This record gives sequence, C-alpha cells and structure tokens, in this order.
Amino acid sequence: MRVLIIGGSRFLGREITLRLVARGDDVTLVNRGRTEAELPAGVERLIADIDEDGALRAATEGRTFDAAVHMIAMNGRRAEVVIDAIGDRIGQYVQCGSTGVFMPLRYVPADEEHPVDPPPDEWGGFNGKAASDRAARERCAAHGLPLTILRPTAIIGPGDELLDYWGGRDPRLLQRVLDGEPIILPERGEGLVQFGDVRDLAEAFVLAIGRPEKAGEYNISSRYAITHNYLAELIFDALDVPPRVEHQPAEEIIARYEETGMVSKRGMRFYAAHMCFTIEKARRELGYEPQFTAEQSVPDTIGWMLDQGLIGRR
Ligand SMILES: NC(=O)c1ccc[n+]([C@@H]2O[C@H](COP(=O)([O-])OP(=O)(O)OC[C@H]3O[C@@H](n4cnc5c(N)ncnc54)[C@H](OP(=O)(O)O)[C@@H]3O)[C@@H](O)[C@H]2O)c1
Repeated sequence: MRVLIIGGSRFLGREITLRLVARGDDVTLVNRGRTEAELPAGVERLIADIDEDGALRAATEGRTFDAAVHMIAMNGRRAEVVIDAIGDRIGQYVQCGSTGVFMPLRYVPADEEHPVDPPPDEWGGFNGKAASDRAARERCAAHGLPLTILRPTAIIGPGDELLDYWGGRDPRLLQRVLDGEPIILPERGEGLVQFGDVRDLAEAFVLAIGRPEKAGEYNISSRYAITHNYLAELIFDALDVPPRVEHQPAEEIIARYEETGMVSKRGMRFYAAHMCFTIEKARRELGYEPQFTAEQSVPDTIGWMLDQGLIGRR
C-alpha cells in the first residue's frame, strides 16, 4: 500500500509511520522538515508547509496514494486544503481527531454519538478540531472519498511528556514531586482521566488504514479511565517517592499558580472535567484491542522523561 502521512515525524504520527513500514507499506511523509526524527530507511520525505497556499499540491504533484492520513488537522481550513489538494489522487482519507470535541461530557463512558457542543470559551482549541471533523465530512462527501476519523483521548507513552496533574505537559510538575513537593489535585481528586498509549493508538490507525470499507468515526483509547487520585499514586510509584497529596479547588490552583506558567485556565478546567470514553465501536469494527493500561503507560512515560533528562533526581 502507498500511504501519505501529513505530519508523521513526531510522537503518534511517527509511531504510525514505524508500524506501517513494519507492515510492508510504502510510506511518504509530508511536513516542513523542521522536526528531527529517526525514521526507518525507505520512508520518503516531502517538504511542504500545509498552511502555505498550493504547497502540498506542488509537493505531491502527479502522485497517487491508496490512503492519506492527516495528523495535523487542527482547524477546518487545514482539513480542506489537504483534501482539496490530494482528494482526487487517494483511495481513502484518514484524519486524526480528538475526543476533546465531546467535552464537557454529559454522560460516561461517552461514545461516538455523544453531542458535540461548542466548548466553553476557554477550551477554544477543540472548536478547531470539531471544525476539522465537519470540514472532512463535507469535503470527503464531495470527492466521494471514504472518510475515517480516529479520535484519541489524552495520549501518553514514550516520546512525549506525561499529561501532568494540572492538565498540561509541563515537566516542572513532575520535578516538583521528585523534589519532595506534594501533588496538588483539583477538587477531591475524583475526576476521571483516560489515557491512550501511543503504541496502542498507532495500532488503531494501522487497523484503519487500507480498509476503506471500515470508514467511520471511532474513539480510541485504553480500556478504562482512572481517577486523578490513582494517577497520583502511579506517579509516586514510578518516581519512587513517598506519596504526598493535597486537594484544592481547581480555581484556587489556577489563582495560586497561573503566574508560574505551570497551569492554565484551559488546561485545568479541561482536566478537572471527567474524561471517560467507550472504545467498543473500534473494537467491534476494527478489531482494536489495546495492550497498555495506565499502570504500564505512566511508568513507561516517566522512565522516558528521566532518560531524556526532562526531569531528574538532584
Ligand atoms: N497529545 C494528545 O494528548 C492528543 C489527544 C487527542 C488528539 N491528539 C491529536 O494528535 C495529533 C497530533 O499528533 P502527533 O503526535 O503526530 O504530533 P504533532 O506534534 O502534532 O506532529 C506534528 C507533525 O506535523 C508536522 N507539521 C507541523 N506543522 C506543519 C505544517 N504547517 N505543515 C506541514 N507539516 C507540519 C511536524 O513536522 P515539521 O515540524 O517538520 O513540519 C510533525 O511531523 C493532532 O491531530 C492532535 O489533535 C492529540
């Protein structure tokens, strides 16, 4: 199979690239060439900034692909430019979405039928993801293209910083714990967070790419959500430090720490809301079976951060 990946050189996109190559696919990446990446021999790299008019079309001129995977559809326009540039030269279009479009949730576990309401103003980023979903549906229908949208929950695993306990990815929060500070959790620590391990999520993409007959929209994650209190326990274990937890109202944490840049209103309010999704549809239709749980992914991610020197024992 010839697969074109928009992005593909970092974290989830890179993990998908590695797995497609292992499967025997011909993989071509298109990105700006700014992100350094170790990639297997045989991966072709085209250079284009998709935000520049005509750049993607020029970079892929005359080429056809069995499938295109858009990893960086962060707004409606980014979905449109990609489908308009290559829609007539591909057999299937796969887009990376986000379960963030469903937040704040009305019921848990949420499924693909959960309403997508405009998120609260301070969660603005997910408006862009929801717009990219709508644009992909509209443009793929116009091109007669099978569309698959795969929506990860919060992504975790070696290759990126852990989603921290204030809703961002700031290594300083884990460093504080290593330095003996308590983990301060919003409210009573009973909020839910659901991680998808990057290795499992990449497998979900591999299961979808090349199967246009399974076109559809799927939430992908690990098997269950965990509480913030339990995440704190996993962090203490992984860092091998004695557990020290405090609880404070989310708004108080924001007021107290916003100036440090370690917490943002957007991150904290998003994190303080429940994140809990069913992956039954992906299981049933794609045969997706995640192998990792938070109990493994959290220490793996923290181990990676220690190895990278992002955090360290002083
Ligand atoms: N992290 C999470 O918890 C989470 C949760 C749910 C969904 N998601 C979704 O996951 C996707 C991102 O995944 P990812 O892990 O693959 O990482 P990523 O960090 O977003 O990947 C960036 C990739 O896109 C390329 N790129 C960036 N800007 C570009 C541009 N203007 N033109 C062309 N290429 C560009 C980069 O290479 P160059 O720098 O060389 O251009 C790199 O290959 C997004 O759709 C996001 O919404 C993430």
